[in-house]
Amino acid sequence: MILQLHSYWAYITLAIILTTVLNSLLNLFSKNNFYTKDLRIALFALIVSHIQFLIGLAWYFMSPSYKHMKEIGMGAAMKDSLTRLLTVEHPLLMILAIILITIGFSKHKKKEKAGAKFKTLTIYYGIALLLILGRIPWKQWFE
Ligand code: HEM
Repeated sequence: MILQLHSYWAYITLAIILTTVLNSLLNLFSKNNFYTKDLRIALFALIVSHIQFLIGLAWYFMSPSYKHMKEIGMGAAMKDSLTRLLTVEHPLLMILAIILITIGFSKHKKKEKAGAKFKTLTIYYGIALLLILGRIPWKQWFE
C-alpha cells in the first residue's frame, strides 16, 4: 500500500519539479516579472516533495530491502549494488534533493528582483531534479 502510494506520488513529484524548473528557466530568459502563480508552482513542488519524503520514510523501515540489509549486515549490503541503491543511495540522495528544494525556495523568497528569483529556483530545483533522476530505482518502478 505505502510502496504503491510512494510509486504513484513519484509521478506527481517529478512532474511538478520539472514544471518549476521549466517555468523558471523560460521566465528567466524571457525577463518576465515574478507573479503569484510562479510562487505557487514552486510552493506546490516543495509541499509535494516533502510529502514524498514522508511516504518514503514510512516505507523505508518496512521495506524488504531494509530487512535484507539488516539480515546480511551493512558491509555486505554495501557490496551488493541493488541493496545499496534501495537502502542507502536512493534515500540519501532524495533527502539531499529535498533539502536543496527547501533551501532554493527559502532563498528565492529573499531575492528582490524577478530574474534573481527565477535563477535561484532554476539552479536549486534543477540540481535536485538531476539528483532524483539519477537515483530513482527505475527498474523496480516499472517492473
Ligand atoms: C523526491 C523524492 C523521492 C522520489 C521521486 C522517490 C521515488 C521512488 C520510486 C519511483 C520508487 C520505486 C517504487 C516502486 O518500486 O514501485 C521508490 C522506492 C523507494 N523509495 Fe523513494 N522516492 C523519493 C524519496 C524517498 C525517500 C526520502 C526515502 C526514504 C527515506 C525513500 C525510500 C524508498 C524505498 C525504501 C523504496 C523501495 C525500495 C524497495 O523496493 O525495497 N524514497 N522511490
